Amino acid sequence: MNLDFSYQNPTTIYFGKRAMEHLSSEIKGYGRTIMLAYGKGAIKKSGLYDQVVAILKENGKNIVELSGIMPNPTYEKVEEGAKLVRENSVDLILAVGGGSVIDCAKAISVAAYCEGDAWTRYWLKFEPVDHKTVPVAAVLTLAGTGSEMNAGSVITNEAMKLKMGRVFPSNINPEFSILNPEYTFTLPVYQMASGIFDMMSHLMEAYFSGNDDVTTDYMIEGLLRSIINSAKIAIKDPGNYEARSNLMWSSTLAMNPLLGLSKTQDWEVHMMEHQLGAYTDCAHGMGLAAISLPYYRYISKYGLDKFARFAKVVWDIDEMNKSKEELAFAGIDALEKFAKECGIVTKLKELGATKEMLPLIADSTVILHGGYKQLTKEEVLEILKAAY
Ligand code: NZQ
Ligand code: ZN
Repeated sequence: MNLDFSYQNPTTIYFGKRAMEHLSSEIKGYGRTIMLAYGKGAIKKSGLYDQVVAILKENGKNIVELSGIMPNPTYEKVEEGAKLVRENSVDLILAVGGGSVIDCAKAISVAAYCEGDAWTRYWLKFEPVDHKTVPVAAVLTLAGTGSEMNAGSVITNEAMKLKMGRVFPSNINPEFSILNPEYTFTLPVYQMASGIFDMMSHLMEAYFSGNDDVTTDYMIEGLLRSIINSAKIAIKDPGNYEARSNLMWSSTLAMNPLLGLSKTQDWEVHMMEHQLGAYTDCAHGMGLAAISLPYYRYISKYGLDKFARFAKVVWDIDEMNKSKEELAFAGIDALEKFAKECGIVTKLKELGATKEMLPLIADSTVILHGGYKQLTKEEVLEILKAAY
């Protein structure tokens, strides 16, 4: 572990079939008014909404609702929530849903008492937050983003056509998160698969950078193997508790940010996907998959040792009679085969992108330098064309 780091994760996790039993005792520690933030209706259909509302009422809480949080949450929605928080002096924001709902709750937390425009200050200028924030907690219904145990918040500004991610200091983490894998049983397979590629991508973004002999890389390989194994089971048998619980815990670990410690990291795939999302509103994990395959094929020559290790250790590919280049490509082929088996979309045209959008997406993509090759805008465009 060559690079210094500090690590603190303040989120309390309640995991398992009885995790919800802890909600009552946890909310006692907060004031009377709770904002219940949720998406477009999945929790009403599943019965989770009724369950949570009953617990809040039993505890004498005053409930303020923010419904209709959309996938790829918009800054407009954040402003709506921030206004509700101020008007009702909300004491806790309880996000019940996937990454979009939890990200939106964190954004509301920092925007509510912000002087000036929070979008400009926090998502464009990355300013520190120097005023009152509102505690956030989560009940997770989709495994993928890791938002339940991190301080990330990815928000889309529709007017500016920008989807920007921001990692706040850990005081913006959910204070506690309830993780019952059974809550993911109602997910459409498409969303499950999108979450699976997202959690893998978080690990690969950290993995495909540097060649040091760090513990973190071994941990990533172990988690990737576990995800691949459980994903194959869960896609065929969505009600398999063991597989769904493995996926849920793996996704929380993949992005919390334990699995990036003491490493340089890449994150260029996420930068491209965020702009793809700003233009198409596609499911995040699907966009990542479509971009990752041509991107990794393109950059593998700059990080050959690591791509060869990925093929051997993660995918059990026999290195006999193969050059390093062949081994590296065999690993990426295995990733593609796995993605297709899971029903993951691997072409941008199937995600709502048009040819005309590609130069706009390329032009607005943030270029990072932690990967094996710092891309030019022209190279981003070529990768997007190959992904199309
Ligand atoms: O709106 P509802 O009705 O809740 O339906 C949602 C939504 O349509 C549905 N869903 C969620 N749980 C369900 C369910 N449907 C049935 N049963 C359930 N149990 O699934 C759809 C997608 O939900 P969403 O929250 O958008 O998905 P996800 O968790 O993949 O979140 C994606 C967002 O998180 C950001 C992404 O960019 C994207 O905006 N990310 C956040 C990160 C973070 N905070 O660290 C990191 C990630 O890299 C990512 O960028
Ligand atoms: Zn992601």
